[in-house]
Amino acid sequence: MQSLPFFHSYDPVQKWLRLRGASYLPEELLACRDEIEVLDVNDGTLTELPDWLPELSRLRIVFGSNNLFEEVPPVLAECSNLYMAGFKSCRISTFAEDSLPKSLVWLVLTDNTLKELPHSIGELSHLKKVSLAGNQLFYLPEEMQLCTEIEFLRLSANAFTQEPAEWVFSLPKLAWYGDAGNPFSDVRDAGSVQEYSWDAFRVGELLGESPSSEVFAAVSPSGEQVALKLYRGELTSDGFPRDDMRAALVAGRHAQLIQLLGRVTDGPDGRQGLVLERVPDSFTALGLPPSLSTNSRDVYPDSATFSSSVVTRVLQSVAEAAVHLHSRGVSHGDLYAHNILVDPQGTARLGDFGAASLYDGSSGSFREALDVRAFGYLMEELLQRSSSMAKLSELKDACLVEDGSARPSFYEILGALEEFTG
Ligand SMILES: Nc1ncnc2c1ncn2[C@@H]1O[C@H](COP(=O)(O)OP(=O)(O)O)[C@@H](O)[C@H]1O
Ligand SMILES: [Mg+2]
Repeated sequence: MQSLPFFHSYDPVQKWLRLRGASYLPEELLACRDEIEVLDVNDGTLTELPDWLPELSRLRIVFGSNNLFEEVPPVLAECSNLYMAGFKSCRISTFAEDSLPKSLVWLVLTDNTLKELPHSIGELSHLKKVSLAGNQLFYLPEEMQLCTEIEFLRLSANAFTQEPAEWVFSLPKLAWYGDAGNPFSDVRDAGSVQEYSWDAFRVGELLGESPSSEVFAAVSPSGEQVALKLYRGELTSDGFPRDDMRAALVAGRHAQLIQLLGRVTDGPDGRQGLVLERVPDSFTALGLPPSLSTNSRDVYPDSATFSSSVVTRVLQSVAEAAVHLHSRGVSHGDLYAHNILVDPQGTARLGDFGAASLYDGSSGSFREALDVRAFGYLMEELLQRSSSMAKLSELKDACLVEDGSARPSFYEILGALEEFTG
């Protein structure tokens, strides 16, 4: 492949082929037909994938973001081992019936122009993680309720004029869900927030980052230690930055939440930002974001173990924060260890309202049950890394029951945890 006019590299360990700036896929790739597992063609000018793609018999992952595709490439349906298809920020307006194989677990179509999904999506019975923020969807095909393995679903920044149908909230394993930034979404007056100029801060080290944002330590004009969350773009995989801010404002003040202090409108390159209370350095993230192989579940260092007092303290802090959020009609939608900062005693601070949704009305208890299921997963992860916590596993199982209406509320969870520690 010496003569390709665009950058390419191959990692023989991960069997990962990278092409950048590609305008076509060279047939020479077939020389590695029984080898390539990851085809990463992000950031090119591709409009289609070749007919011979299924000959790459081991292909598991296709990254095709930032290209010029106008449809979900139908040839993917023939790639029978495909686990993940990632086509963020293309120009995809067509998603034809039967364009994807039944093996698919992870689908990313964030930031395209889709109005509809095909009925055949219901046949993707292994789908677990589905990112659809930033499209023009206004309904979901009913067949999608057959996708009972879905744990993670993003519908933010779409065109739903009504709340999605009730079956969406009843998907038995759904735990991380967001639908802010739709025409139906609750945009109650969240009050105003102080505006700051970026230049007014002394910006220090990077505290954390994700594909959506960078978070810096900074000192405010009045000398206060703060954190600045600077968004990378107008839309993230979780939705619009303004909905992150709105949810944080509605959430208000609570000892176990990371407090919003203001916003920045003139960040570098016009980027938007939030000013957050700075969580002290004695706090660290409880987990790391999911990896390609863990899919919807967080990653923990191999060495991570938690004492029983830390586990109960973390769970109590997070349940208190969640009771507070749901009493204000805020569903967090991203209740993950990687969004929780903890100190060595287990005092926890929940942050990141990026995927939060505001609600008002009848879907409230369904929506709370989704965060409860995420809390159940968090419990499971902590209990797996802790000893002598058998007593809590009943509560964990209750949070994970597939009938959302049978899960305990956060208020009940808090009561159960207090009984356990008391
Ligand atoms: N107020 C804060 N103080 C200290 N660290 C923070 C603060 N807010 C965020 N961080 C760090 O930055 C990371 C990313 O922040 P988060 O709000 O989760 O952004 P994203 O929406 O991009 O995931 C967090 O996991 C945490 O490690
Ligand atoms: Mg986060």
